[in-house]
Amino acid sequence: MASASVSARLVCIGCGQEQREPAADFRCSHCGDLLEVNYRLFDERRNLPAAAQLRELWRQRKTSLTPADLSGVWRFREVLPIVAQVGEVVSLREGNTPIYELPRSARSAGLKTLLAKHQGMNPTGSFKDTGMTAALSVARERGFRWVGCASTGNTSASMAAYAARAGMRSLVLIPEGKIAWGKLAQPLEYGALTCQLRTDFDGCMRVLGEVIDRFPIYLLNSVNPYRIEGQKTAAVELMEQLDWRAPDHIVAPGGNLGNCSALGKGLLEMQRLGLIDRLPRLDVIQAAGANALVRTVRETGGKRLVGVAAETLATAIRIGNPASWKKAVRVLEATGGVVEQVSEAEIAIAKAEIGEDGIGCEPASAATLAGLKKLVAQGHVRAGEAVVLILTGHVLKDPEYTFKFHQGSLLAEEESGKKLEGELRRHQRAPVVLDAKEDEILRLLERESEPGQGKF
Ligand code: F0G
Repeated sequence: MASASVSARLVCIGCGQEQREPAADFRCSHCGDLLEVNYRLFDERRNLPAAAQLRELWRQRKTSLTPADLSGVWRFREVLPIVAQVGEVVSLREGNTPIYELPRSARSAGLKTLLAKHQGMNPTGSFKDTGMTAALSVARERGFRWVGCASTGNTSASMAAYAARAGMRSLVLIPEGKIAWGKLAQPLEYGALTCQLRTDFDGCMRVLGEVIDRFPIYLLNSVNPYRIEGQKTAAVELMEQLDWRAPDHIVAPGGNLGNCSALGKGLLEMQRLGLIDRLPRLDVIQAAGANALVRTVRETGGKRLVGVAAETLATAIRIGNPASWKKAVRVLEATGGVVEQVSEAEIAIAKAEIGEDGIGCEPASAATLAGLKKLVAQGHVRAGEAVVLILTGHVLKDPEYTFKFHQGSLLAEEESGKKLEGELRRHQRAPVVLDAKEDEILRLLERESEPGQGKF
């Protein structure tokens, strides 16, 4: 396989200084801010085909059978020249995720149509795989033996799988008791050294920072700018699926804020390269109990991070001090997007509605639909506009949440749950326990067939 020219530079988003040898924590050695990958290639447009040729090249690769072309990330390698040997990347055929129409959810949000790009259809069940193939391939190229992350679950699942594929060791730090079962199971299966710490995600990040200072572990949290490069390709793939016609809005959930930063970077670069002629607004939705970006924007105009003590049943986004807040603020500003927050009950209802469309996702992903309803009510999104939700994780990641929801025990004590009790109940479908007699089932079928029955 031909080697690509690695033209990526790491540049500080705060002071603009280039970092040739990044520190283990990927912070600027000068001012401590985050780094991002910056391409001379894009500035000079040298060696880079024109937009029409890029589109054609990427389309042709869909019929190729080489591993890099089968990856929905590396198929777009011209916009992420970060490894020397594309033939040696660590790939699980990530990306290539579907777009679905959500007619019931659209109606519920007051829109004519609504699309979802389901990043939960990645190999380990979340969007993290698109970033992991990129950053872990860099780690292997740099000769690291160990990789590590702090995680609310999905990053650890993804990292552990890719490390196993690469024959590398992985260290996972997760908050004890606040990880969905489907996620905790994965790093165990993939052979990671998994530590449940008696703290929250932010505490795990802090401890990992100390560990990487003293042990050669390659950090794979989204402060790693190569993670962002991989994740931005979801935006490229989305535009390709929409035949390069940008929607009006893309709505993504926000936790540590790496994903919305990545999608935004992808959109801005595509605009610069002439691949799209206008920018969608990128709107970010947080759980009200983990609303650091909402408060940062509302209380400081995006100038200073307002950290919070995070609490939400959408454990994926239970994060109080998001690392990429500054990148996220820039994306909101550049695209004209907004940040909104949603309650626990609103998330639960939205998750059930997406399920009723036959799709399903994890709670953090459903925050997008819950937030969209608010954005429509506020007039930020108009009824005829084209909207794409980013569903970040698979429904099977957190079966306990789903089960408790349908049994009615998820939000028993929750304030927003009391207010929306009627609406919650309408979506609940607890399993029915019966004697093993056909008559019982037939009676049930008759009752369910009466007019007005059936939830959808
Ligand atoms: N949705 C899911 C399913 C997630 O797992 C995460 C983050 C997010 C949304 C938020 O994305 O952090 O880039 O803003 N999960 C991380 C983890 C933090 O450790 O798995 P973000």
